[in-house]
Amino acid sequence: MEIIRTIELLRKRVADAKAANKTIGLVPTMGALHDGHLSLIDRARKECDIVVVSDFVNPTQFNNPDDLKTYPRTEAADCSKMEAAGVDYAFIPSVEEIYPEPDTRVFDLGPVAEVMEGAMRPGHFNGVAQIVSKLFAIVTPDKAYFGEKDFQQIAVIRRMAELEGFDIDIVDCPIKREADGLALSSRNVRLSPEARAIAPEINRALRASLDFARDHSVAETRDFVVGTINSKGMETEYYEIVDARTMQPVADWADTPCAVGCVTVYCGGVRLIDNIKYQ
Ligand code: PAF
Repeated sequence: MEIIRTIELLRKRVADAKAANKTIGLVPTMGALHDGHLSLIDRARKECDIVVVSDFVNPTQFNNPDDLKTYPRTEAADCSKMEAAGVDYAFIPSVEEIYPEPDTRVFDLGPVAEVMEGAMRPGHFNGVAQIVSKLFAIVTPDKAYFGEKDFQQIAVIRRMAELEGFDIDIVDCPIKREADGLALSSRNVRLSPEARAIAPEINRALRASLDFARDHSVAETRDFVVGTINSKGMETEYYEIVDARTMQPVADWADTPCAVGCVTVYCGGVRLIDNIKYQ
């Protein structure tokens, strides 16, 4: 594995790979790699000749400066994991390399970016679109891999790719979980032992809602999930049952063939997200 810190060198490696007719898979990450990331890398390894992983904590997508400051940074451990996973190029640029001047682009991301995370974290998705569009332009991958834990993010990235005319296969990959159901996240390391003990109740409530939904309305199912999570000592920021294609809230199960419930919860002060598909 080669660690690459400049755009120029990465472009050169990409050009050489393309000249040799190799396909390229990109796995964008913000580091603090866990088994969820490794499952994306595995998939890319199986489907592409060359695997590029970017490891960059993107400042423009943080709407909260404290969150950016405390975001886990574990470059050495990340490199060992990437090497063991068979990554070809680990792209680990500085902030100055990516943003030599402020990125003032504003993307017209539309309704998919206006609800849930878009409403709670102003500017967040524009920042995601800024960095992912830069990575797509630098790496020009055949395929790019994203985890379904950030379900709405994938819809936003698809929209950005459509707007910018990127011909890239955006591959969504299933959520990886701890044995007790907690969705893997770089933020889990911030959970206190007490918070870690109750955090699996988020996924438990979501799974219980699959049965509940069979004979209850969307609104009742929403209340069931929020009530169950809050009764375990956490605070639900939102629980929305949305159409998986548009991210717009559904009023009735019959309104969509693909309802997905997306939740954000404060657990001991740590903001966790998860989701579940109803069909
Ligand atoms: O999901 C993430 O880790 C980030 O939002 C991404 C896609 C790597 C962009 O910084």
